[in-house]
Amino acid sequence: MTGHPAASRHVVLRDFREVLGREHVLTDSDLVAGYVRDWTGRWVGRATAVLRPGSVEEVQEVVRICHQHAVPLVPQGGNTGLVGGSIPHHGEVVLSLRRLDRLGPVDQRRREVSVGAGVTVGALQAHARRVGLEYGVDLASRDSATIGGTIATNAGGMNVVAHGDTRRQVLGLQVVFADGSVGSRLGGVAKQSTGPDPFQLMVGSEGSLGIITAARLRLLPRAEKEPMVLLVGVERLSEGLGFLGPGARAIEFFDRSCLEAVIGHRQLSRPLSGDHPFYILIETTQTPEVPASLEAVVDRRLWAYRESITETLNQIGVPVKLDVAVPLERMDEFATAVESLGLEGEVYLFGHLAEGNFHVNVVGNPDPEMVVDQVLGIVTVLDGVIASEHGIGVAKSAWWRRSTDPGTLAFNRQIKEILDPGRILNPEVFWGG
Ligand code: FAD
Ligand code: MLT
Ligand code: ZN
Repeated sequence: MTGHPAASRHVVLRDFREVLGREHVLTDSDLVAGYVRDWTGRWVGRATAVLRPGSVEEVQEVVRICHQHAVPLVPQGGNTGLVGGSIPHHGEVVLSLRRLDRLGPVDQRRREVSVGAGVTVGALQAHARRVGLEYGVDLASRDSATIGGTIATNAGGMNVVAHGDTRRQVLGLQVVFADGSVGSRLGGVAKQSTGPDPFQLMVGSEGSLGIITAARLRLLPRAEKEPMVLLVGVERLSEGLGFLGPGARAIEFFDRSCLEAVIGHRQLSRPLSGDHPFYILIETTQTPEVPASLEAVVDRRLWAYRESITETLNQIGVPVKLDVAVPLERMDEFATAVESLGLEGEVYLFGHLAEGNFHVNVVGNPDPEMVVDQVLGIVTVLDGVIASEHGIGVAKSAWWRRSTDPGTLAFNRQIKEILDPGRILNPEVFWGG
């Protein structure tokens, strides 16, 4: 426990056990291992304990103990985060929210639902589908990533072009604050004009301002027509932007290196006969016009190429992952600039084309910090953003402080001081490093 007398470790563990029962206070290194290593394997930390509360009241009790004894904690959902923000770095307590997995009944008239923070995105999607609706967010980590984690990172994913990011789905939240008090807005009326909304501030706060225990989310009518999926080979990314338009549910891209890696590791066949620098995957409810000069193929199963990239790269090695966005008209310029860096190791480019998003992954480079500095340097020159959908975490905290304007940074510092004066909530994200 950071900055905490070792003698009180025994006391807080006893208090945690009294609230949660012994079986939900994990200290055995084998049991704790999966909670202290991030999904990519780039960060491995250590935890005083992993706590697994089963109700909002238990979360409150645990946070009160942390508050009283100045014990820092890291909220954790599915631990699929990619910026090192979901694991303890210096012996913090891990507060796993996965047991808060209640799926409330769907209000079909209003198209809304309340769910626990530990519900996975996949479970919510299935829940909505059972009544003919859909949830607006989808991502390849759907079966592990939780609603709490996706809200805390303002996750994007594949369908942002059609439905917006996670923030757009959030109607209200239940949140436990750093002193153990709880705030709640979980439905009731459709419109509310009752002053500033503390819950929207929680979206994207990465566990540093409060602990999300439940959410009220909007659902959407399902597409009337079964969408079609096509893959197109292109020379330049700007050619893929021609597919933006009504009916587009996803416009994704990956480069030649990603395709070769996926084919090599997943026993997938070559989807197009030609070899192209970039591949654009489009899911749309309106048949798009594909220029005769472009090679294309139609098949729903084409998603496998795009969705298996992340896992495939992890098999190849521990990747340095960057998740950035640049203005749409500068995407080719960005890709060329990254190539001309001549980075050591294998460089892979893929992402969500419709949002100007690039996932730059580099495997086999001995100097991750240098990779981060060089790629984010290009992003800054091109008027882009250093974090498009994965968040800041510890991976980009120094860059975030350096590149955020003074007014916005001061606002964030003051909010943190007001909501978490003892700095017990995920202290390393944004402000560590
Ligand atoms: P965790 O990893 O557990 O935590 C992430 C952050 O949220 C941490 O800072 C943590 O402290 C905080 N947090 C977690 N739960 C809570 C809570 N209840 N209250 C307060 N804070 C909390 N991301 C995208 O945006 N788009 C993608 O397309 C995408 N695809 C992915 C594909 C794969 C294969 C993988 C492994 C990851 C992908 N991700 C993607 C990243 C990741 O899935 C998202 O960041 C997701 O939102 C994390 O959810 P989680 O429940 O795993 O959160
Ligand atoms: C994706 O779009 O596949 C994800 O954000 C995961 C990643 O960046 O690896
Ligand atoms: Zn992504």
